[in-house]
Amino acid sequence: MRRILIVGNWKMNKTASEAAAFVRDLIKALPASPSVDFGIAPPFTALESVRAALGASAFIQLGAQNMFWEDQGAYTGEISAPMLRDLGCRFVILGHSERRTLFGEQDDAIHKKIRAALKHGLQAILCIGESLAQRERGTTDEVLTGQLQGGLGGFRAEELTTLSIAYEPVWAIGTGRAATVDQAIAAHCTIRRFLSATWTADVADRARILYGGSVTPENVEGLLKSDQIDGALIGGACLRIDSFVKIAAVAQ
Ligand code: G3P
Repeated sequence: MRRILIVGNWKMNKTASEAAAFVRDLIKALPASPSVDFGIAPPFTALESVRAALGASAFIQLGAQNMFWEDQGAYTGEISAPMLRDLGCRFVILGHSERRTLFGEQDDAIHKKIRAALKHGLQAILCIGESLAQRERGTTDEVLTGQLQGGLGGFRAEELTTLSIAYEPVWAIGTGRAATVDQAIAAHCTIRRFLSATWTADVADRARILYGGSVTPENVEGLLKSDQIDGALIGGACLRIDSFVKIAAVAQ
């Protein structure tokens, strides 16, 4: 049985001090849950202050929104997996559509990042999703399986035991127009079928597949009712304590 995973992707929001104040309030408002895992991914600059604010509240895992694949060296402006581990990160979001579209990240780079994350014991959350044009052309499944192949091809089944995948249709991100439950379930089934066919049924059964894209306290219940949807990757709604707490309450 897969545990529900609720992750907040803060994107480029909150300074280190704002982040720490937010987390101090969040942990007062968010009860630990025996059945749900929580994660937050602040900007790099706030990882240290958030770690300090989380203190002993181990039920919220700390993660990053991106990283580079080399451990160290002449890579100006980049951050490595060992650096994230040293700051207490347990997971890293990779291949987010904003990285793909705004920063030209391609599958081969994402593949190297996933390899580096796993090598250093960071759980990877691989983001995939189709654009509106791709959906309208009827190529959603092809896009999703292509991104899975590009990001994960060549990994051995044993390497994928901690993998999570976030299905984030590009047209639903930050638009207020979430996928319908049926659209999300169809995409998640495509993803799981591909994992099973390409690796093993065990890989497919273990992988947590999250939905992301305009998740709100109002629509999350319908999404999480399906046993194909193992959690949510949340942008805008996780920047407010009241909405994050409401989403968490639904997930219990
Ligand atoms: O990674 C989360 C994401 O891209 C969704 O953002 O603001 O639509 O919840 P949002």
